[in-house]
Order: sequence, then C-alpha cells, then structure tokens
Amino acid sequence: MYLELIKKTLTYSLWPEPGIPIETFNSHRPLLKRTLVSWLAALLRSRQYRLSYHGFARDEESKRAEGLGWPMLADTMIGIKRLDNIQACLEQAITDGVPGDLIETGVWRGGACILMKAVLTAHVVEDRTVFVADSFAGLPKPDAAHYPRDAGDRHHREEFLAVSADQVRGNFRKYGLLDDRVIFLEGWFKDTLPAAPIDRLCLLRLDGDMYQSTIEALTHLYPKLSSGGFCLVDDYALDGCRAAVDDYRRQHGIAEPIVAVDATGVFWRKR
Ligand SMILES: C[S@@+](CC[C@H](N)C(=O)[O-])C[C@H]1O[C@@H](n2cnc3c(N)ncnc32)[C@H](O)[C@@H]1O
Repeated sequence: MYLELIKKTLTYSLWPEPGIPIETFNSHRPLLKRTLVSWLAALLRSRQYRLSYHGFARDEESKRAEGLGWPMLADTMIGIKRLDNIQACLEQAITDGVPGDLIETGVWRGGACILMKAVLTAHVVEDRTVFVADSFAGLPKPDAAHYPRDAGDRHHREEFLAVSADQVRGNFRKYGLLDDRVIFLEGWFKDTLPAAPIDRLCLLRLDGDMYQSTIEALTHLYPKLSSGGFCLVDDYALDGCRAAVDDYRRQHGIAEPIVAVDATGVFWRKR
C-alpha cells in the first residue's frame, strides 16, 4: 500500500492538475505568436491575472496511467504503468538476488528514482545504491556531426525539462528517501558516465530522449548490467532513442526479446 500511494503521489494522481500558464511552452510557437503570447501574458500578470491551458485535464486519468503529456506538478512524467514496470523489475531482481545498483539516466524531477529508492526501502534493502544521472540543466544541443539522427532535435530549447539538482534532492527529501545510498551524477552523460563509481547494475533505466543520450548510456552502462538484470527504455516511441537502442542491440548481438510496457516504454531482461 505504501508503494501504491507513492506512485499515485509521484504522478500527482490524487489531485486535479492545474492549468499550464500559456507562456510555458512558448518556444514551440512561431515567432509572431510567441511574441504575442509573451506580451499578453506579461500584461495580464501585471494586472494579477493568468491565462492557463487546461489540455492535460482532458482524459487526465488515462494520461497519468500512460505517462502522456508533461504534467505541471507531478514529480515524474512517466505515468503509472512505467512506474509499475520499475517496481516489478526491481522486485524480481531482489527476489532472484541479481547483484548490483540501480541507475536512471535522465531524471527530470527525480520521480522514477524516488520510486526505486522507495522499493528498496520497503523491502529493507540497504546495500544497493540509486544513481541519479542528469545534466540538471535540460538536454544537450544536438551534435549532428557525430549523431545525425539528432539533427534538428529541439529538446534543448525546453526550459521545462531543466530541473536543478537541488530541486531533485529536495524532492527525495520530501519523501524521506535521501541518504548516502542516493548518488547524484551531475553533468552531461558523456562526462559523468564513463567514470561513474558503478561496478554492477541490476537495473538500468534510460530516459534521455535523444539518440546521443541513449547510446552514451548504453555504451557506458550496459556492460555493467548483471546477468538477470533489467534494461528499461522510456522513449522507444521516439525515433532517435529507438534507433540508438536498435543499433546497440544489433552491434552487440543482444537477442533478448523487447517487451512493451505502454505506448512508449519497453524493457528486456539480460541473459
Ligand atoms: C524526459 S526527461 C526524464 C523524465 C524522468 N525520467 C521522469 O521520471 O519524469 C529527460 C531528462 O534527461 C536529461 N538528459 C537528456 N540527455 C542528457 C544528457 N546527454 N546528459 C545529461 N542529461 C540529459 C534532461 O536533463 C532531462 O532531465
């Protein structure tokens, strides 16, 4: 019941989502519309008003289950089904004694990592570390010379995806789950992952959206995943991420079947 409540809390499922201020996703709009929206929002703000977009409220329950859309207040955007998947894989790894720590590459507000720590705590597992890897400043600009699949990717323009390490630490603290077995790897994956103090992993969760972010995480971390460990991929519905996963699996002869979790999440268990 504790873990069910944690998942509902992390996804903000217990309360209705408030509207999103209309200027939040302004970078998606063409220049003229962007300027108009900024001007209008500033004018209304100066008169103590706010215009909000309430699109998330439509089909809110199924969006929360499937992890669709970017929620205003939730501590994770991945939805209940993918949180269930983390819990199920981790509990299986614990039951089967699969050695190693856990990592998520791409944590945003930290909710998925908070659930990992909550599962360990609920099962009184005190000898596994949760690694929390992120730039804590959003996504990198595409490096199309090395990763042509990322050409034109606009994720780096999303301020909404930049959440500071202090805010994520604060989120862990809110749930009473911050201790020295939670280690933050702060910076770009290409800089932090090669030298990360990780020997073995029982669970590797990839949520970096882009080709580069996915392939870097696989390159540096998949060899450390124990036999019987789980590889979870959040963004298999995104072209860049899927291409990185498929390239890596092909290049390394990984034949374990990919299992779908929902419309975008997949996982496989390493033999
Ligand atoms: C979609 S969000 C992750 C959502 C999160 N797992 C959750 O539970 O809601 C993607 C995150 O990946 C991070 N990220 C993507 N590519 C990165 C890279 N190459 N290096 C460091 N952080 C990266 C971004 O900063 C962002 O926080």
